[in-house]
Amino acid sequence: MDSQQAITEASEPVTPGDRPPRLGRVPFLDNTVAMLRDPLGFYDRAGAHESDIVGYNVAGTTGYFVCHPDLVERVLVTDADAYEKGQLLQDTLGQFIGEGLFLLEGEEWQRQRTALQPAFYRERIATYGETMTGFADRTAAAWADGQRIDVLPQMQSLTLNILGKTLLDVDIETTAAALEPLLDALRKRLDPRSLSAYVPLWVPTGTNRAVNRSLAAFQSTLDDVIAARKREDASAREARDDVLSLLLSLDEETVDRERLSHQLLTFLVAGHDTTALTLTYAWFLLATNPECQQRLHDELDATLGDSQPTPEDLFELPYLDAVLNEVLRLYPPAFTVFRQPTEPVTLGGYELSPDAQLTLPQWLVHRDERWYDAPDAFRPKRWDDDLEAALPDYAYYPFGGGPRHCIGMRFARMEAKLALATIAQQYAVEAVTEPPLSLAMQITLSPTEPIEVRLRER
Ligand code: HEM
Repeated sequence: MDSQQAITEASEPVTPGDRPPRLGRVPFLDNTVAMLRDPLGFYDRAGAHESDIVGYNVAGTTGYFVCHPDLVERVLVTDADAYEKGQLLQDTLGQFIGEGLFLLEGEEWQRQRTALQPAFYRERIATYGETMTGFADRTAAAWADGQRIDVLPQMQSLTLNILGKTLLDVDIETTAAALEPLLDALRKRLDPRSLSAYVPLWVPTGTNRAVNRSLAAFQSTLDDVIAARKREDASAREARDDVLSLLLSLDEETVDRERLSHQLLTFLVAGHDTTALTLTYAWFLLATNPECQQRLHDELDATLGDSQPTPEDLFELPYLDAVLNEVLRLYPPAFTVFRQPTEPVTLGGYELSPDAQLTLPQWLVHRDERWYDAPDAFRPKRWDDDLEAALPDYAYYPFGGGPRHCIGMRFARMEAKLALATIAQQYAVEAVTEPPLSLAMQITLSPTEPIEVRLRER
């Protein structure tokens, strides 16, 4: 089926006022139970539906899966002004990061985005290259031939170190000690399989208590960070252009501790777990596809030899680029984008009211056989053959799109490639954990069991 055909089917309901088809006969019961038991299975049911817009009702919230690239583009780009991040995200994340870039709307969002943009300019990011390879090298140096490693925690401390040094310039050891318990508690609270995902924060569940405790500890660490910045003399402060100083300069007179906590937590959550997961899935996919790993090693050996990769080298490493594209296609850490219309809208021929929660799932669109042959197979090679030009726009959107696309995209792609290259120069990985992976849809798409590989020194 080509893209035009699919969109035509979705966009021509017979009568105006028609509602999209729904999942299940009694959606409230069926969908809520399905989401609690097996969120991924629930998403897959939506993907298997013949309609590109499918309604659902989970815990009383009316939502729609939007599964066609043209419709995704309409929501994120063409009609972006008619949508906001929405109630679902505000309810779950608002009290932690509501005043950070990810959730703000309107003028306040624009003000922050413009102020922070310089930290993400191409030339600026290129200067982070050495820090990225340096930390990756340090990670590999702590490993030994034959060792079996649990990959995710290793990659989390790598990406946290990189983020801390390049973008925040904070004492990351102290910050990490305060951050990890908070992130852990938040992951549990936001997991759709947990009771806490459906009750307010003041309800004293074990998870909620852990969130409140760790949030207080994180905020007091931030107080120390801010106090240390304030002690610096003006010229030292002005010379800085990390994200933290850009944020502090936005509210020079009144540094509001809660607001800063939201802003920093946004970057720590958005920029640390996502890239750590990308790297973790990359090692898993390379370990379980040895011929692809071999081809990557061949490319690295031929292009870099023993020298450390630089940002310029990345232009000469097309297979590495294809590996990253394919990892983000199969296991997009941001497995969906949420939106809610601010006014009645028409989408795919259906009229949707402003209370509709839209789910634009990369998890489904990236694995749709209308756009990808053998969609579940790890085939970096598919990106060689100009796939990107042939794909409809928004059949691939691991970093979202339109005005709210990921501000850290270039940073993340460079970091992931430099870390993969640096480590793969030194080690091959052998599969310990075998597919299929057991995954949870938390804030990000996360493994529920450790992903392990065995290291072989090269
Ligand atoms: C592989 C890694 C990453 C993935 C897959 C990813 C994915 C995404 C996606 C899909 C969005 C759009 C969400 C939406 O439209 O609702 C987004 C937004 C955002 N990302 Fe990333 N991201 C990654 C890395 C990073 C990094 C490294 C940073 C910061 C250093 C970052 C910071 C942000 C921020 C602040 C936003 C909100 C931007 C705005 O609304 O203006 N991300 N990310």
